[in-house]
Amino acid sequence: ELCGRSAECSIHLEVIVDRPLQVFHVEVEVKDINDNPPTFSVKEQKLSIPESRLLDSRFPLEGASDADVGENAMLTYKLSPNEFFILDIIKKKDKDKFPVLVLRKLLDREENPQLKLLLTATDGGKPEFTGSVSLLILVLDANDNAPVFDRPVYEVKMYENQANQTLVIWLNASDADEGINKEMMYSFSSLVPPMIRRKFQINERTGEIKVNDALNYEDSNTYEIHVDVTDKGNPPMVGHCTVLVELLDENDNSPEVVVTSLSLPVKEDAPVGTVIALISVSDQDSGANGQVACSLTPHVPFKLVSTYKNYYSLVLDSVLDRESVSGFELVVTARDGGSPSLWATASVSVEVADVNDNAPAFPQPEYTVFVK
Ligand SMILES: *[C@@H]1O[C@H](CO)[C@@H](O)[C@H](O)[C@H]1NC(C)=O
Ligand SMILES: *[C@@H]1O[C@H](CO)[C@@H](O)[C@H](O)[C@H]1NC(C)=O
Repeated sequence: ELCGRSAECSIHLEVIVDRPLQVFHVEVEVKDINDNPPTFSVKEQKLSIPESRLLDSRFPLEGASDADVGENAMLTYKLSPNEFFILDIIKKKDKDKFPVLVLRKLLDREENPQLKLLLTATDGGKPEFTGSVSLLILVLDANDNAPVFDRPVYEVKMYENQANQTLVIWLNASDADEGINKEMMYSFSSLVPPMIRRKFQINERTGEIKVNDALNYEDSNTYEIHVDVTDKGNPPMVGHCTVLVELLDENDNSPEVVVTSLSLPVKEDAPVGTVIALISVSDQDSGANGQVACSLTPHVPFKLVSTYKNYYSLVLDSVLDRESVSGFELVVTARDGGSPSLWATASVSVEVADVNDNAPAFPQPEYTVFVK
């Protein structure tokens, strides 16, 4: 208190003695004892350090002060054990020291958003005093994490002919960073062809993919959609996934029946088994929806004979006689195996041509005529 930080501290006194008058000079030297601990000006020092700082980066700290002098004010510093920082002591010319943190292991905000360390100063007195300050290190985010999807590939199965704006899939990516570094935008990757961009639509904010145009199994039954998710950090980071859309067939196409060739009219003496017409059937659907069964009007002297998958011959099944029936209206019905099933018909009119199979005949075999 008397001398502050100066090492020499003495009080000069004059002692005056009477009879005989004499003056004595007294010098009282005040010796320091270690009665002051080192003190820090604040209880807590806060440091904000970006996680991107390189190894050996240095962060100066405010040192402690000690009101004593000499050995009693010779401070040594110690840092609480931790894996990220070590302490370096800088000696200034006026013999004060001050501590500096040195980064020894890279910081990662996603693992340790903040660190609490304790810096302790010890003086050189006997006995020694200590003082300490807590160091609160706030690790600031850098855009070092790309957004990620929880799977690289998502598979979606859906029926064809979905209404416009039907949800296909709702993608959710996540980003371990914070703030603007974790704000994401979804988009089709630049690889996605215009055809898919027309058929599907992605909401860049929410990640929902919706149907945007008619989806027809018969045009294409799988779509491979590459999706990017980009965060808004600087520079931005990108994550990817693929959505495989598989369309399932619906029975939305009727069978078609085509009569391709006819040999008409048919002569009434044509032998049984004569081919009268060739018929082909088809259905654009797949599976049972595309399997077609063919049938013919019942009770006619004709039948359908399957020649090859989906090809039939219309053949004569029994003897014809123009003189009793001169023509037939045949209906070929093709029906698919969907549920409910769809069907189509084709009519064939068969005219029976006359053959000279009847001799002229008299109404009576014998005429008896009486002549006077
Ligand atoms: C994404 O999140 C939404 C809403 O929480 C959820 O309905 C959807 O199923 C999620 N998507 C995936 C692929 O998990
Ligand atoms: C589907 O809906 C979207 C949004 O309303 C619209 O832009 C698009 O033209 C529609 N597509 C068809 C085929 O109607």
